[in-house]
Amino acid sequence: STQYEYILTSAPEPGVQLITLNRPKALNALCSPLFAELNTALEAADKDDAVGAIVITGSEKAFAAGADIKEMKDKQFSDVYKNRFLEDWANLSKIRKPVIAAVSGFALGGGCELALMCDIILASPTAKFGQPEINLGVIPGGGGSQRLASLIGKSRTMEMVLTGRMISAQEAEKWGLVSRVVPEGEGEVVKEAVKVATEIASKSQIAVQAAKEVVNAAYELNLAEGLRFERRIFHGLFATDDQKEGMAAFAEKRKPNFTHS
Ligand code: CAA
Repeated sequence: STQYEYILTSAPEPGVQLITLNRPKALNALCSPLFAELNTALEAADKDDAVGAIVITGSEKAFAAGADIKEMKDKQFSDVYKNRFLEDWANLSKIRKPVIAAVSGFALGGGCELALMCDIILASPTAKFGQPEINLGVIPGGGGSQRLASLIGKSRTMEMVLTGRMISAQEAEKWGLVSRVVPEGEGEVVKEAVKVATEIASKSQIAVQAAKEVVNAAYELNLAEGLRFERRIFHGLFATDDQKEGMAAFAEKRKPNFTHS
């Protein structure tokens, strides 16, 4: 198994890959080697037939406090431009299996953006989301301005990005930034995320990946193209064993036994 310096990986339940950001002294600031390890672990989980869903979490105090400011502070335009700084963060959005963010504590800047790249965000009541880059003389660079605008609307996005104000878990839930806030308690949000991941891992992996692909298309295509894409993918699933099994099992009043084929 791969040894990582900045993350921990485990399989808390069959079918579930848990990735824990583990740079506690820096509140999980997302330095380049941390993100490279995260990408490696995500790509390995995506390829692993035994994994049906992935959970990313941090610590009780911080999901992630952003990109690493100390790593960035002396960089020049020519460095960040030529080296495509942060471009590899987008690898996460190419992962085909569902990725669930379990957020406790600070999810700031790149930490908020990391959560936004995941498919489902569950929040602990302690979660705080923010895009404080404006306080550093810069702007979000990991997709925050675009993803927030499509999720929570212009006025709320402008307020977050222009003032840097942190919002509470309750506000994030009300605004639709997270799917729900779980009851308080240490480790509760990870437990709940693993439960959701276990549920997803019990389905047909092909149908799950297709579902993720079509929902994501809603953020890129217009409605007519999106509806057409959805129907085509839906039609395509009739070529799978899992469709035959899923529908036969319903008719025979038994549980389906999906073979992911
Ligand atoms: N980068 C590097 N180090 C960080 C960090 C970051 N983003 N966030 C926290 N740390 C470090 C601190 O420097 C400190 O290290 P030392 O012990 O060596 O001094 C350690 O983590 C603990 O942090 P604090 O002492 O500050 O903890 P706190 O509880 O007093 O405050 C906090 C917590 C409010 C989150 C505060 O740490 C903070 O404001 N962090 C920066 C948040 C931020 O601006 N994030 C945006 C980064 S820019 C970005 O992300 C760009 C992008 O769009 C991709």
